Amino acid sequence: MRHLLSTGDLTRDEATLVLDTAEELAQVSDRSVKKLPTLRGRTVVNLFYEDSTRTRTSFELAAKRLSADVINFSAKGSSVSKGESLKDTALTLQAMGADGVVIRHSASGAAHRLANWVDGSVLNAGDGTHEHPTQALLDAFTMRSRLGRLEGLRVAVVGDILHSRVARSNVLLLTTLGAHVTLVAPPTLLPVSVRTWPCEVSYDLDGVLPKSDVVMMLRVQAERMTESYFPSVREYSRNYGLDGERLARMPEDAIVMHPGPMVRGMEISAEVADSPRCTVTEQVANGVSLRMAVLYLLLGGS
Ligand code: CP
Repeated sequence: MRHLLSTGDLTRDEATLVLDTAEELAQVSDRSVKKLPTLRGRTVVNLFYEDSTRTRTSFELAAKRLSADVINFSAKGSSVSKGESLKDTALTLQAMGADGVVIRHSASGAAHRLANWVDGSVLNAGDGTHEHPTQALLDAFTMRSRLGRLEGLRVAVVGDILHSRVARSNVLLLTTLGAHVTLVAPPTLLPVSVRTWPCEVSYDLDGVLPKSDVVMMLRVQAERMTESYFPSVREYSRNYGLDGERLARMPEDAIVMHPGPMVRGMEISAEVADSPRCTVTEQVANGVSLRMAVLYLLLGGS
């Protein structure tokens, strides 16, 4: 594997190898000296055309923990504002010796385009509404750590599926790993193509919750919306928000996940977000080990 562009490209063995490697590397995070020399002399460029808190910082930390040199490039404040294209920006950074390029871009397919232009490995850190493979891998890692397995798990992904790259990457990865996914959303927030995805679809959150081992809540991505998709925030929350009452109707050991950023009071109440059953900060911590594993396997491993 040279690039990580889509979870749909991963076989079950490849995905399991990433999760197992992340499990080994997580032990390094528990040590007083957290660095490994594995990627010494290698250069990783973080190329971010869209805002990010978790993905950018955890890719940076992961690369540094493996002793790589890291260049953080943000479109804001760069020559992109003077009209420089993605291709010319990427070729400029490659000329400085990038072995791996981590890219986030608002255009679906940007990571695939980049993979045709540069010699190094390309890691998709989120392209438009298409995919976010490392998020899905860290989500699967978190489910496996918390619940001990992925095979047969019943996972509900709830919210703005239409604009979510996390939903698509999770559906593709989790089904490869033997889990059953149900997407839950109002009809207006489901893509037309969803019937061809390898998962079930429901409009009824209350019907799905008691049958779920994992409930993954998604933010409504207002920044990608050009029209109105539901009558009001209050009505959206009433039908598709997770509050304490709904949490109580989930199986006792079921967990709540969220890729972040969360909008408390909309898709998730503060009570649920702060509950020990919510894994949101655990997902962030696991993201560092998972991204170390991906960088190691693409840039340094055999
Ligand atoms: N989950 C996620 O991609 O978060 P950021 O947008 O903060 O990177």
